[in-house]
Amino acid sequence: MDVERVFHMSGGVGKTSYAQNSSLQKKASDMMKHITMETIQQLYHEVTAKSLGIADLGCSSGPNSLSLIKDIVEAVEGSCHKTCRPLPEFRVFLNDLPTNDFNSVFKTLPDFYRDLKKDKTERCPAIFIAGYPGSFYGRLFPNNCLHFIYSSYSLHWLSKVPPSLYDEHGKSINRGNVYISESSPPSVSRAYWNQFQEDFSLFLKSRSEELVTGGRMVLIILGRIGHNHVDRGNSFFWEILSRCLAISVSQVPHCLV
Ligand SMILES: C[S@@+](CC[C@H](N)C(=O)[O-])C[C@H]1O[C@@H](n2cnc3c(N)ncnc32)[C@H](O)[C@@H]1O
Repeated sequence: MDVERVFHMSGGVGKTSYAQNSSLQKKASDMMKHITMETIQQLYHEVTAKSLGIADLGCSSGPNSLSLIKDIVEAVEGSCHKTCRPLPEFRVFLNDLPTNDFNSVFKTLPDFYRDLKKDKTERCPAIFIAGYPGSFYGRLFPNNCLHFIYSSYSLHWLSKVPPSLYDEHGKSINRGNVYISESSPPSVSRAYWNQFQEDFSLFLKSRSEELVTGGRMVLIILGRIGHNHVDRGNSFFWEILSRCLAISVSQVPHCLV
């Protein structure tokens, strides 16, 4: 399956949209917010650029995409007040896969700018926001153009289904499962691990060209606490999903599983 072409979160703002169902991801980024803000403030103190390049990789659509940008701008504003330095301009790149609902994000931009201006007696920060479609598993930006790269709850998406999940006859070695579950053989978790290593190395290599010297990254990735790959926190939802899929498939007449 071509993940880059097919996968995207549910667009729009309806009941089943990602916009209305992303509080879990918001909670994760809120838990790490102190790290993000500290990092951006350190960056501001060390870098004297008049124009800050910021990228949110895997921004999706919905309120999470812009709420982080607001926090970043306000953190830099706060530091500027304290140090009496002029406010830099912000170049913000919202990246996701090409099928992401960027239009929904763009539609909320007027409100976003209005909110930022609210209660401001002084000049409003200059912010230039652009959608940036493409896979972060490869180059996205020109050399040395970003000061801060952020990605939350996105980097555990692999670039493809690991090829070693299939045997020489093209049959899955993880039959009846979605992802890694109690009944998966160890070769299944190895297959996912290898794919993650390959993808993450490519991610870091690409970003290393794009980030300026002294630039910073904050990456929030879903993980697990213990060594055991079958971790209830992670595999619980996949178990439920695979059972639902199995039941649905069993109800389709003449379906070959
Ligand atoms: C769970 S959402 C997280 C969205 C947002 N960062 C948040 O915290 O709400 C994961 C996003 O990563 C995007 N994504 C997955 N793989 C990607 C890739 N290779 N390149 C760019 N975006 C990707 C998905 O399309 C999806 O919108």
